[in-house]
Order: sequence, then structure tokens, then C-alpha cells
Amino acid sequence: MVASSDGMNHVFHRDFNRDYPLIAYGEGIYLVDKKGKRYMDASSGAIAANLGHGVTEIGEAMAAQAKQAGFVHTLRFETEVQHELAQAISQLAPRTLNHVYFTSTGSEANESAIKFAIQYHRDRGNSSKTITIGRWQSYHGNTMGSLSAGGDVLRRTPYLANLMQTEHVHSPYCHRCPYQRHFDQCKVKEQLDCVEEVERLIQEIGPENVASFICEPIIGSQQGAVVPPDSYLSQVRALCDRYDILLIIDEVMTGFGRTGHHFAIEAFKIEPDIITFGKGVSGGYAPLAGMIVSDRLVDSLKKYGKGKFIHGSTFSGHPVSLAAGRAALRYYKRHRLLDNSKKQGAYLLHKLHGLRDKHRTIGNIRGRGLLIGFEMMRDRHTDTFYEPTDRAAEQLNQIAMRLGVIFYPGSGTLDGIRGDHLLIGPPLTINETEVDELVYRLSLALVLFEQE
Ligand SMILES: Cc1ncc(COP(=O)(O)O)c(C=O)c1O
Repeated sequence: MVASSDGMNHVFHRDFNRDYPLIAYGEGIYLVDKKGKRYMDASSGAIAANLGHGVTEIGEAMAAQAKQAGFVHTLRFETEVQHELAQAISQLAPRTLNHVYFTSTGSEANESAIKFAIQYHRDRGNSSKTITIGRWQSYHGNTMGSLSAGGDVLRRTPYLANLMQTEHVHSPYCHRCPYQRHFDQCKVKEQLDCVEEVERLIQEIGPENVASFICEPIIGSQQGAVVPPDSYLSQVRALCDRYDILLIIDEVMTGFGRTGHHFAIEAFKIEPDIITFGKGVSGGYAPLAGMIVSDRLVDSLKKYGKGKFIHGSTFSGHPVSLAAGRAALRYYKRHRLLDNSKKQGAYLLHKLHGLRDKHRTIGNIRGRGLLIGFEMMRDRHTDTFYEPTDRAAEQLNQIAMRLGVIFYPGSGTLDGIRGDHLLIGPPLTINETEVDELVYRLSLALVLFEQE
């Protein structure tokens, strides 16, 4: 903790009960604090620092852009870097998603997508279509709209009286199916039970009132890398088509190689109407996020909406952030980080399965690429979880930090309140020796945690 010259600490901390180490610098997958302690960043910060720390060429690209034109108001002007990055991102996205709208954070990206869906229907004379359907145990951000659409019970609770009108369905967490079904029973049906629930909800509130459905393709912070069954997203796509509802896929965490694909949706072979992105697009070097919108929606905006999305903010399309994004995308490609995400992700999964045999606290392990999670259990053999008051995942992460490795702990895995999980998402630059080191440190942390 640092005090200023007036003897006070002036930072409004994220948590006033904590003492935060001061980071001096980062290199590769490590962060080093002012006292010289090294932390292996096994969560890429908040699953954002995909390129690792201290990549000088990204800093240099940002500095060059800042010298050239540090701020440009996108209501009046555009920049070359904006055009280049928009083109590069749309080339990575599914075929008809070709129009990139930039924001600074993932929350704003989802806020923009939710609002754009409402405007889309309104422009076409369907002004009652205003409701967003989201899922419990999902996270789309902290602004009022994105918080409303998300299903993070603990974050929503203080603001319940202020949230937007949204509706929620259960997530496709087959390992703990909310309907107590076995997947083999469900998969032979025309529609999975959790998709039937979406259709029932649409009919209940009336399709004429529903603007969009939003979900993460692989559930990140709220359930720890839960992958849906193969057919889930295509069935949801079909429902959205049937009821004229826009499908928004939130790739803020999963985009840009995190799951071994440019976007996780690639593996499910569908085209959403909007993809939102953030975090990894700049490798975490600058606040940058946005949404990629389909040709169909932009054509409609031009035809029925006077060509103008009624939205926007000062830092949307900030050239220095965009320069970080452009340099980051080149870095992903040159260093073949998607391949490495797949390769090291498979190796990490394999090592975690080995570790599971030695620890009763490791439950179900899942994930894709370098987005991997596991259920933290009191005892896997008796299928018991810790109590929420134990704050098990957080405790494990505190121990891990003492041992010099940082994970991404989560709670509320089962129903928003109960259950814990640990998310592991190191920079996509990680090598095999570093994966070994990561797993070794995790095993030490688990031993201490189980003893304590
Ligand atoms: C899936 C997902 N969507 C949206 C967000 C919000 O992004 P931001 O924190 O940049 O506002 C996050 C952040 O963790 C996320 O994981």
C-alpha cells in the first residue's frame, strides 16, 4: 500500500479490505511486484493479457499512433487504423459479419449490442420488441443494460430495483443439468430441454416483445469454462430465426484465440447477428472492445434507420487503442497463437486430469483451448460442495498468490449462490515447461488449501 505525500491513500480500491501488491513490470507470463516477487499470471489478468506482458512492439505501436493523432472524434472524422482494424476483425468473423463498431470495454460492447437490437426492431416498425433474453450464470458486464441481461446473481442483487426489463433461462450445464436429465436422453430429442425452455419463455412473454437473445458461446467467469452441447447454439439460432429475434454472441472472453479459434462460435458453425468482443483484441494493452454486426442489420439501418445508430461515446474508436489492437492481431498471427492455444490447452487439460486423481477438491474439468475450468468441491467422491461462506475458490486463489501464481476464482457455479470453480487462462504464449510449472504450483496450493 502506498501513501501520497499528504499521508493519505487516494485510490478508491476495488476492495477496501485488501492490501494490493504494487506491480513494477511484467515479462512474458509473469508479473513482478515492487518487492521483486514474481507472479505467474495463470489468468491473463481477467483473461485479457493474451499476449503476455512486456511486448514492446505493442507499446511502440501505441506511442507512434499517439504521436501521429492521439484523439480523433469519431462523430466528425475516421482514421486509417480504424478502417484497417475493422477490416482485419471482420476477416476473422463469420462470413456475413462485416461491420465493426468500437467501444472501450466489453460491458459497453454488450450495452451497444442490446440497444442496437432494440433500435433495429423499432426502425422496422416493431417497437414492442424490446426485451433481451439472457441466461442465469452468465456475465455480460457491469453497465445497467449488460448487468440486466447477464445472470450474475450477486452482482445484480444490489441493483434489482433499477435493472432493465430482461428475462433469463438456465444455462446448458449438462454436467449438472437443471432438469436432472442425462444428456443421452436429451440429445435424441428434436430440441434440447434447455432450448425448449427458451422457446417456452418466448411464447410466454410473446415473440412480439423480444428483441434479442444473448449468451456466451462457452461460459466464462460464472461457471468456469462450461462448453455447451454441439447442437445447442444451432437450435437457439433456429429459434431466433423463427421468432425474428437477434442472436448476440458475447465473445468478450472467448474471442481472439482464447479457445483455439478466432471466435469460439466457429466451432458451432452458426452465424450470429452480432458478435461482441473485448479483452484479448488488444492483448489487454489498451481498453478496446466492440461489436461486429451482420450485413443484414446494417442494410436495415441504412434503409429504415436513417443510417444512424442512436448511441456513441467519446472514446469509441480511440486511435491509440486501435493501434494496440492492430499490433496485437499481427502478433497473434506471426506467433501462431491460435495453434499454441489448442496445443498447450490440450496439454494443460491432460495434466489437470492427472492432478485430479490426487485431489478430492477437483471436480468436473472442462474447457476449450486455453480457457479451462474445474469445479472446486469439498469432496468429489461424495459430490459435496463448499458453503458460500467458505469462499473456497477465493481462498484457494489467495493461497496460490502467496505461492506466486494467480488464477481466476469464481463462485455461484451451481445456482448463482452455491458452488465454486477455478478458471485457468494463461497468456496464449505459454510453453510446455511453463504449463508444468503452473500445474506444479496449483498442486502445492491445493495441498495447502486442503490442509487449512
Ligand atoms: C463474457 C464477458 N462479457 C463481458 C464482459 C465485460 O467486459 P468489461 O469488463 O471489459 O466491461 C466480461 C468481463 O469479464 C466477460 O467475461
